[in-house]
Amino acid sequence: MTRMTSTTSLTAQNATSAPWWRDSVIYQLYVRSFTDSDGDGVGDLDGITARLDHIAALGVDGLWLNPCYPSPNRDGGYDVADYTDIDARYGGLAAFERLRDAAHAHGLKVLMDLVPNHCSADHAWFRQAVAADPGSAERARFIFRDGRGPDGSEPPNNWQSTFGGPAWTRLTAPDGTPEQWYLHSFDTSQPDFDWSDPEVGDMFEDVLRLWFDRGIDGFRIDVAYAMVKHPDLPDLDDPDGDNPYSWNQPGVHEIFRRWRRVADSYGRDLTLLGEVWLPAAEAADYIRPGELNQVFYFDLLQQPFDAAAFRRSIGEALDGLKQAEGVPAWTLNSHDVHRAVTRYGLTVPEPPRTTDINALRTRARGAVNTALGIARAKAALLLLLALPGSVYLYQGEELGLPEVQELPDEARQDPIWERSGHTEHGRDGSRVPLPWTAAAEGNFGFSTARPTAPAWLPQPAWFADFAIDAEAADPASVLAFYRQALSARRGLDRDAPTEWLDLRRDDAIALRRGDHVCVTVFDGPPLEPPADWGRLVISSEGAAVETSVVAANTTVWFQRSGS
Ligand code: GLC
Repeated sequence: MTRMTSTTSLTAQNATSAPWWRDSVIYQLYVRSFTDSDGDGVGDLDGITARLDHIAALGVDGLWLNPCYPSPNRDGGYDVADYTDIDARYGGLAAFERLRDAAHAHGLKVLMDLVPNHCSADHAWFRQAVAADPGSAERARFIFRDGRGPDGSEPPNNWQSTFGGPAWTRLTAPDGTPEQWYLHSFDTSQPDFDWSDPEVGDMFEDVLRLWFDRGIDGFRIDVAYAMVKHPDLPDLDDPDGDNPYSWNQPGVHEIFRRWRRVADSYGRDLTLLGEVWLPAAEAADYIRPGELNQVFYFDLLQQPFDAAAFRRSIGEALDGLKQAEGVPAWTLNSHDVHRAVTRYGLTVPEPPRTTDINALRTRARGAVNTALGIARAKAALLLLLALPGSVYLYQGEELGLPEVQELPDEARQDPIWERSGHTEHGRDGSRVPLPWTAAAEGNFGFSTARPTAPAWLPQPAWFADFAIDAEAADPASVLAFYRQALSARRGLDRDAPTEWLDLRRDDAIALRRGDHVCVTVFDGPPLEPPADWGRLVISSEGAAVETSVVAANTTVWFQRSGS
């Protein structure tokens, strides 16, 4: 029998009058890969509108659209050419308005993706900057510098791009003369803005207002800790390590105080969610009073499926974020990492060929035990749903989809693949268009207009095993479990504090939230729940589970009887 004692009282974040986003569950849509309504093999907004029932039936509170602005798509739309419009390939502004209205009619909130650190090299401002002279107002909107060394042929400093290779590219004048260099923290097609130029901040305030006026409910903010650079752009001691001069500079918080004032001026609970890859204590700074409402907590997603790792990571978040006004946004999946099924089911890792710490932690490759990965991913999800804060799901995880590791190299589109000199495969494997029908031929129902059109990334034959039509008809499917789990979350007491329980074993963790207990057994012998935990509410093993004993790779919720 397990004994437990209540330890620290961690947080009581959710007031009954809490705004909708405080404990919301949001479904992330990689627009190009959800549903193609016009037969070009690329997903679009009318495709999402046509299949909103699938999202609504999950029981989520809203959706987040990955960037769908006009873009040359060198980095999946994170290279924005025009912040004020919707790309014609996704149906243009009219399709956006249809989706917004349909989502709101389903009671779903709509979040857009804002990319303020950089734009596309095709953006009008960057084209003007390239055409203008060094020292001009047009160049001041970006980070242009003269090169070092003889003839300025060396980059201005030794910073590396997040995607591999130098963070600087040199311009060439129309007559072939080499010219100034510009900074790009990501791909060469993504020039970084210079946020010390007031025009940049003013432009983004206009963008915020434009989309709020168009009725959206909030923004996910891309690399929200990157916009402000150290003014001297100093060399790094270790160019392959972290860049403390480019990330998490104190000045970035001033931007969010300004944006929060804008959002609050609308008086309708708009939300601002930051993408920051930081430890809990630093992430907490982004949700201080008057700043962002939500901040992604990616530390957990970088941990192996291990009790001590999860206990530490979750504990640091709950401790670090408890003084904040905003909430952590928990997530296990996104378009930037290998799917959780693959991360947790990896049994024989391939030797890594990269030194990128993020890739090592979130995109390891190798042989996968899919059944094990699915069991663990479901257990991890049920644990996440018990925590205070919001939860972000990524399309396809509700099917238990593994990562597509075996894409043909010539199909890969992520700039990481090229920029890393083919040492890092990148993120395409989590972006493969969804399988809607198990039918063997064509694109698994991804394209409603042309069932045989090739999808923009090739789908493997085993996608048939994860098709939405089959899972929707199967009460034992991962999809059925997701629906039950989200429904169970609505029974949690939002006002209750979260307390760790001491299980006297180090291969399982448990926490109490109000009259619920959530226990996860990562490894080791089955756990016999004490009688005072109450009745079994839901198990990640599925609805058919007949015993309240908790086996390895499983999460179970209990609830005290009579409550
Ligand atoms: C964020 C996005 C990622 C993109 C990068 C550059 O990390 O999630 O997909 O490549 O920013 O915009």
